[in-house]
Amino acid sequence: MVNLKINGQDVQAREGITVLQAAQQVGVTIPTLCEHPDLKSYGGCRLCVVDVKGARNPMASCTLPVTEGMEVVTHSPGIEKTRKTILEMLVSNYYDAGYVNGQKRETQLMRWVNHYEVDVKTNMAPAPRYAVNSDPNPFVWVDMNKCIQCTRCVRACTDIQGRFVWGMAERGINTHPVSGANTDMLTARCESCGACVAYCPTGALDNKMSMGAGEPDKVVMTTCGYCGVGCQYELNVKDNKVIRVTSTEKAPVNGNHLCVKGRYGYDFIHHPERILKPQVRRYLLEGKKKELKGSPWDWVETDWDTALGITSQKLAGIKKEFGADSIGVLTSAKCTNEENYLMNKFTRQVLGTNNIDHCARL
Ligand code: SF4
Ligand code: SF4
Ligand code: FES
Repeated sequence: MVNLKINGQDVQAREGITVLQAAQQVGVTIPTLCEHPDLKSYGGCRLCVVDVKGARNPMASCTLPVTEGMEVVTHSPGIEKTRKTILEMLVSNYYDAGYVNGQKRETQLMRWVNHYEVDVKTNMAPAPRYAVNSDPNPFVWVDMNKCIQCTRCVRACTDIQGRFVWGMAERGINTHPVSGANTDMLTARCESCGACVAYCPTGALDNKMSMGAGEPDKVVMTTCGYCGVGCQYELNVKDNKVIRVTSTEKAPVNGNHLCVKGRYGYDFIHHPERILKPQVRRYLLEGKKKELKGSPWDWVETDWDTALGITSQKLAGIKKEFGADSIGVLTSAKCTNEENYLMNKFTRQVLGTNNIDHCARL
């Protein structure tokens, strides 16, 4: 353990952690932008600067390891002024059409801008420099006018998703992320997991499906039904409609990470063609014979008892006429383990065949 002082308070911290982490452990909040606990520290934005006794200049606490006898001041008039100046400089290279139009969304950058009372309208870049919605990716909205070059997208895609889609291009004030060799995201092997969106602190990367949807009335934590991993996420609900899915560090299995299905595959919930009741072919419901010509083939809604009754009759009839091995069963990764177990039992013991497989093996 290392002994140090933070704002005059004696603190014991594990060797190797940063001043930022030591401060967080004793309840001191230091503002950050480029730092995220899931990502390797980068030390790019400088918002987390602190005074260290004996150091000539303020130092970035997110990359500064604790050392024995260190004395740190996290909040002083000088440090707060420096942070405000840093935010003004970041905002001077930032342009948000939504803000200009009075539709500002709460982002991490905007939280600190408001906290330090930075006047965005007077400090913001005079005009956009990049096209808004510049990438054809169906899920990720790209507006590099709002980028502050924190590289969180680059680190998320590289270190968490392992796709290496984003990299930083150009120099100085023109530095900005590009996908691949300045191609579109999908050409650069993006699999639309949305991790870069989740970690972007400014809205430069955003969820295309949710643009203009506003803020939710409530947020409901739930478990994804797409596969057996058991990822959890938050359904953002407005007027009884899911407008967005957000990942959360509170999810024990997956943290902030999700795949494309969990993050963006929710439009079926309110789809007008969603099937909400069991359906059977009309000729089955009417007890008629299947004929290639002239049979009433259209689907008809019915109740579960009728649908299951017809299914069991047909299965029993096929087994009697052609034998159990003429039937095959395919189960789904969307079922729970228990449901798949039951299908296994049903197939082998009720139907009497070993013809069962699972979509995850296909
Ligand atoms: S959506 Fe996922 S794979 Fe695509 S660029 Fe972002 S992090 Fe990388
Ligand atoms: S797009 Fe977002 S996450 Fe990526 S560098 Fe810009 S501000 Fe940071
Ligand atoms: S949060 Fe420390 S330098 Fe950006």
